[in-house]
Amino acid sequence: MKFIDDIDIKDKKILFRFDYNVPLDKENNITDDTRIRATLPTINYALDENCRVIIASHLGRPKGKYAEKFSLAPVAKRLSRLLGKEVKMAGDCIGPGVKKMIDDLNPGDILLLENLRFHTEEETNDNKFAQELAGFADVYVDDAFGNAHRNHASNVGITKFIGKCAAGFLMKKELNYFNKALENPARPLVAIIGGSKVSGKLETLLHLVKNVNKMIIGGAMAFTFLKAQGYEVGKSLIEENLVGKAREVMETAGKLGVKFYLPVDCVVAEDMNSEAETKIVPVQEINSKWMALDIGPATITVFTEALNNAKTIVWNGPMGVFEIDAFSRGTSALAHSVGRSYALSIVGGGDTDVAIEKAGERDNMSYISTGGGAFIKLLEGKDLPAVRALKNCS
Ligand code: 3PG
Repeated sequence: MKFIDDIDIKDKKILFRFDYNVPLDKENNITDDTRIRATLPTINYALDENCRVIIASHLGRPKGKYAEKFSLAPVAKRLSRLLGKEVKMAGDCIGPGVKKMIDDLNPGDILLLENLRFHTEEETNDNKFAQELAGFADVYVDDAFGNAHRNHASNVGITKFIGKCAAGFLMKKELNYFNKALENPARPLVAIIGGSKVSGKLETLLHLVKNVNKMIIGGAMAFTFLKAQGYEVGKSLIEENLVGKAREVMETAGKLGVKFYLPVDCVVAEDMNSEAETKIVPVQEINSKWMALDIGPATITVFTEALNNAKTIVWNGPMGVFEIDAFSRGTSALAHSVGRSYALSIVGGGDTDVAIEKAGERDNMSYISTGGGAFIKLLEGKDLPAVRALKNCS
């Protein structure tokens, strides 16, 4: 696969695919611009090479129809502020009006196309749509790691129709860190997996257990594992149908000598709300009317000790309902433990980045992935369609 600095882009017209799917509040203000900042090195490199910069992205899931709340206009504004130069905004992502704006660009100009997903053809990977996008530029550069698990026109189809393709610096960084974490890790390699459901993470668990030295399980999903060990877990969220699979993961760990860690105590409440009375109990003593909503202090100690000799840590998913303060302590404490460790720490997927930000540990992680679903696909050991397309194209 070629990267942007492997090919000649001097004076070229480049179409970039970025993942500017950023969170917005009700007034359409961007609440986290990490994904925009992450693309600045790639854009600046192209500007230094005197390129005309055309940018395509999606935002949200508008289902093929225009809707103002999914417009990329706020992104154009923020990008312009971050770059300190004008970013022109197109009214659409294809069509004669867009073509005219592209033809009028001067070297060093930047044009952001409107949301690709205002057209159903983006998500159906329609050839004609992909071909029209490809016709806008001499070179295509994909730096949308967050979207790389999707098989769409702007990140897969387009590579069939454009002369030159490459990946950007963000894609390079994401794949390099992933490689350090799972392809060729310094060991012991520890995986921390949390979140509410085993179902969304089953493939990740089955793949990771064969590759790691230690596996730490937190979040509500831990209670499906505890159930598989014969514990009564009260009203805690469990998936009965996956108790067998949870047992299979633990048996595989046992056979392979992978050290497997589950909570030993938890914070319980009768209901999942901030006013509910809470208690800390050993996992053996969860009352049938109460539910576990966070890991407890003894578990924090055990998990922290398990991390002590780690050389690489991969973390996906919170340890409890961290959005509610009363149940956020376990996730925060673990974020501090990972932040203090001497290991290479790579975090991604789900709300893990949000939880780490909340704990004030962002700067102490080695790398926080910009990908949610894409990061999880890699943890499952899967190929990313956009990466495959780039490999076939260059
Ligand atoms: C993401 O936020 O994970 C990517 O931008 C992909 O978005 P999607 O899940 O709507 O395809």
